[in-house]
Amino acid sequence: MLQTVTASRLLGVVEERMAEPTARGLAAAVGRAVGEGRLADGDKLPPIRTVATQLGLSPTTVSAAWGLLARAGTVRTDGRRGTVITVRAVGPSRYRSALTGGKLFAQDLSTGTPDPALLPDLRAALRRVVPPAEPATYLDDPVLPELADLLRADWPFRAERLTVVDGAMDALHLIATTHLRLGQRVAVEQPCFPPLLDLLDAVGAVPVAVEVDDDGPLPGQVAQALAVGAEALFLQPRGQNPSGASLTPERVARLAAILRDADVLVVEDDSAGAVAATPALSLGDALPDRTLHVRSYSKSHGPDLRLAALGGPAALVDPVVDRRFLGQGWTSRLLQRVLVDLLTHAPSVRAVQRAQREYARRRAAVVGALARAGVPVGGKDGLNIWVPVLDEQAAVLLLATRGIGVSAGRPFAVRPGQAPHLRVTVGLVAAGHAELAAALADASRAGPRAAAR
Ligand SMILES: Cc1ncc(COP(=O)(O)O)c(C=O)c1O
Repeated sequence: MLQTVTASRLLGVVEERMAEPTARGLAAAVGRAVGEGRLADGDKLPPIRTVATQLGLSPTTVSAAWGLLARAGTVRTDGRRGTVITVRAVGPSRYRSALTGGKLFAQDLSTGTPDPALLPDLRAALRRVVPPAEPATYLDDPVLPELADLLRADWPFRAERLTVVDGAMDALHLIATTHLRLGQRVAVEQPCFPPLLDLLDAVGAVPVAVEVDDDGPLPGQVAQALAVGAEALFLQPRGQNPSGASLTPERVARLAAILRDADVLVVEDDSAGAVAATPALSLGDALPDRTLHVRSYSKSHGPDLRLAALGGPAALVDPVVDRRFLGQGWTSRLLQRVLVDLLTHAPSVRAVQRAQREYARRRAAVVGALARAGVPVGGKDGLNIWVPVLDEQAAVLLLATRGIGVSAGRPFAVRPGQAPHLRVTVGLVAAGHAELAAALADASRAGPRAAAR
């Protein structure tokens, strides 16, 4: 049974939380009341006119507020039943649907993961690493000084603070839960890494799509996102997953010029890290006071190390570190020692350099063969390619019948209307590039719409 919230109760709950008499103010107040448990899942809100009269707002303002809350997933509006609070089960739904359950396939290219054969030898590293005689304690510095020095020497800008976290996803999660608020608009790349969209859903932030070309987010669309109130921009500086876009110095300069006068948090997720062939560029040089840069070591050194570094201004990094002390606290310094070893042991460094060249070779081989087959694929870098197709489901099915698993493009869409694509992790393909490209070219033309042509 739905419980209807009386107008006077809603007024009481909302009034004390409403900072401004606007749609955003009302939406934020309701969002806060939900967060504090004063409004519960299934509570039915009074009709818009009643709320407007009670709160002294126009019906348009209340309707706009309900719209914002609906987009944040805090309410749902279903016809006769009116507007109802929803406290959603939070989970990696897009993330799961991007993966096809690969054990069924002879060749699973749906994963976005690195080729284990191209990772440096972890067993040897574990034999080399000697834990200190005195075990580390809760009170030690969260980052090993040796690792901090290595990170600093290789960071794309002078970061006031650097810390180590358990992978880029951990960094994004910490940043989102520390710095984003319910209902806040956040500009993200279209297409977007699905777990980031799941994460924004989980914190109730509202993604605003910014399309990318080969050089990253389109400046005009970033400006539009700011114009509609985006207060943060999340981007992948290189080897964008899934499109393969990488920033150029020119694009960095244009984006920095647009962002300079706006009060915007910039979050850069360099998940490709050391296996990217394009340079590590960052908006942090131009916007050091508001850029958080994340570098993952999963693709270069192994996903199970669960290591990434996060750097930026103290005002943004310190709250993340403080918040983390309420949970995990810090990233195991034993693992940090393993990373120090891998970053300084010459054969391991060479292995990562070889991996970088090999990923570039694999990508170029498939992209080149696809171009010759009349299927243009954009992007420049990374483990994945973003293949335009006529019909995603038909393409996925056709490839499945040939034993190849790929991801449909849909989970990567920020908003509906994205042209159909597949994400294919070509970084996993050591040989047989021409055969794979031929299968992808067939898949790109598969589907009911093909017959109609
Ligand atoms: C864009 C992007 N961000 C984050 C991650 C997760 O990285 P990590 O293993 O460091 O959590 C991935 C992994 O594929 C990714 O592609």
